[in-house]
Amino acid sequence: MAADSGTRVFATRTLPGDALERAGREVELEVWPGPGAPSPEELRDRLASCEGLLCLLTDRIDAPLLAAAPRLRVVSSCSVGVDHVDLAAASARGIPVGHTPGVLTETTADLAFALLLAAARRIPEADRFVRSGAWTPARSWEPDLLLGRDLHGAVLGLIGLGAIGRAVAARAQGFGMRVLGWNRSPCEVAGVERVPLPELLARSAFVSLHVALCDDTRGLLGPAELASLPRGAVLVNTARGGLVDESALAAALRSGHLAAAALDVYEAEPLPPDSPLLGVPGLVLAPHIGSASVATRARMADLAVDNLLAGLRSEPMPHCANPEVRQDLARRTGP
Ligand code: DGY
Repeated sequence: MAADSGTRVFATRTLPGDALERAGREVELEVWPGPGAPSPEELRDRLASCEGLLCLLTDRIDAPLLAAAPRLRVVSSCSVGVDHVDLAAASARGIPVGHTPGVLTETTADLAFALLLAAARRIPEADRFVRSGAWTPARSWEPDLLLGRDLHGAVLGLIGLGAIGRAVAARAQGFGMRVLGWNRSPCEVAGVERVPLPELLARSAFVSLHVALCDDTRGLLGPAELASLPRGAVLVNTARGGLVDESALAAALRSGHLAAAALDVYEAEPLPPDSPLLGVPGLVLAPHIGSASVATRARMADLAVDNLLAGLRSEPMPHCANPEVRQDLARRTGP
């Protein structure tokens, strides 16, 4: 069954691939022309007459916005994370919220591992060294030039053993690392030693974060947790910026307690031009590109459109982030 072709949907950005074209064949689709994202006011105005919203993780979908969208029946976010959506408010309205788990797992794990290597082996610093002309005949090969940390044989602590954490564990095992893991709910992962979080922090030379941002995990790594890492440890965050206290991280790097860190996500995105992080030594920075491969972004767009169209047909979404609404839908459309 197709969604009613008079159904109005607003998409806050064009997406890679042909998923939006597919949506446009089924619904009356308006795509924000850009540049950039619509402002909160523009989003509210557009949503006033829409039944569907296709959004990104940069669009804040909060209770006041939902209240200003009386016809809205479906939200579909082209992201796995849904910390930008007030799920409780959406559920209270019976609005299913689609998201895109699964399709970005391996691509995000690749980036986490790339950042682990980049930070451990000081790759961006090495690149700057060559480009700056500092690599002169007098310094052609120095015994102590740009010394980093070995991954092989080292202990990697994974905070979060969901799909992405497990994909990082598989890569780490291939690199000969010993892997510790902490997860909020019980789970067993082959080759990963489950330990309490304080033990993981105390034993890990490398730590990588793979938990969702929610009330329980905000500020998970603060000054005390960072201080409990072994001296010379390396931290990688490809999950959400709010998990780590950025000032405490900057202080730990400046003091030399941490050897290096690599971030793909920040408390505020984009990183403000005057962010103190920009001047911190040993810090590798990326602009939230965990899922940014050609194939994966197209798969995310496809899944976001699948979620959107299923929701508008009052069918269960392939991936719904507020299961209580999903269950209601299943009951309504069940045999
Ligand atoms: C997500 O989807 O939540 C990632 O952070 C971006 O791909």
